[in-house]
Amino acid sequence: MPADTTDTTDTTDTTDSTDSTVGTAKAAAALSDVAREPGATKPDAILVADGIRRQFGGLTAVDVGHLEVQRGVITALIGPNGAGKTTFFNLLTGFDRPDAGSWTFNGRSLDGIAAYKVARLGMVRTFQLTKVLSKLTVIENMRLAATGQRGESFLSALLPMRWRGQERANTERADSLLGRFTLDAKREDFAGSLSGGQRKLLEMARALMVEPELVMLDEPMAGVNPALKQSLLGHVKTLRDEGRTVLFVEHDMDMVRDISDWVVVMAQGQIVAEGPPDNVMANQVVIDAYLGAHHDSDISVEAEEQRLAAERNRGADQKETPR
Ligand SMILES: Nc1ncnc2c1ncn2[C@@H]1O[C@H](COP(=O)(O)OP(=O)(O)OP(=O)(O)O)[C@@H](O)[C@H]1O
Ligand SMILES: [Mg+2]
Repeated sequence: MPADTTDTTDTTDTTDSTDSTVGTAKAAAALSDVAREPGATKPDAILVADGIRRQFGGLTAVDVGHLEVQRGVITALIGPNGAGKTTFFNLLTGFDRPDAGSWTFNGRSLDGIAAYKVARLGMVRTFQLTKVLSKLTVIENMRLAATGQRGESFLSALLPMRWRGQERANTERADSLLGRFTLDAKREDFAGSLSGGQRKLLEMARALMVEPELVMLDEPMAGVNPALKQSLLGHVKTLRDEGRTVLFVEHDMDMVRDISDWVVVMAQGQIVAEGPPDNVMANQVVIDAYLGAHHDSDISVEAEEQRLAAERNRGADQKETPR
């Protein structure tokens, strides 16, 4: 393989679109009765947050009254720059501590639980700026993501057979994930030599080493070329279709519309809207939140178009069915 191989080699979309259509329909059915309002109760919430607040000096970065994330669906967390999305991720996953609030994962409180333990419980996240270790190879990065499992315990250290078994299983799992994310050809390469898009793939693959139930992705498509984006989209849908829950932050509204079953909107630290993608993007509160932040954002234009279209339709309906 030439050294200058780029993302274009990684565009194989292995997902079955029929499967993902079924997954989308199932998710829509599960969410059909959920109120389209901030803090809405979900029929089967895997993650529930209450009164989460984080201040940096005088700035309240996060002030979430109530949020429930439905199990087995793809939820997008959107909002203008500085809305508090990453800070909220940090708080939920134990990378930062809130000033107030409580939250549960599968009914278990995560308050005060360290990030690596949160991951072990089945809730992992990736980072807006990838955290792959450049000076380690791809396979080493993958193996490292599995640490904190059985091999690390004191008892296991006394039982090398058991430890080796675990290590073998980890390597097998790592290789299978590298295959799935078309990174197998890069197995022995330093992670630092990967393109931006390939790093995003490696981060997602690494997150899956612990067999998570909930995968939280902070801007998984940022800085990724369009072809690889399609492949990443497929991977995210596959996560849901194999039964995992996905919560992801994204600015690209086409991506959000394409893959999310539910959208949660944050502005100035608070949840200001929730609902299915089309519903949320036509919501005046959401349009205002984005307009307040940056006037040329694609959501404001799209949402305004949708609102006008809806208004026209309503007008037409009224004319057709006079009461
Ligand atoms: N460690 C910190 N110290 C001080 N202020 C911080 C810190 N982390 C975040 N902030 C501030 O908190 C607010 C929320 O930031 P955050 O990174 O969570 O936003 P975001 O929604 O992820 O934005 P983006 O879409 O640009 O990634 C911002 O005003 C940011 O400047
Ligand atoms: Mg962020």
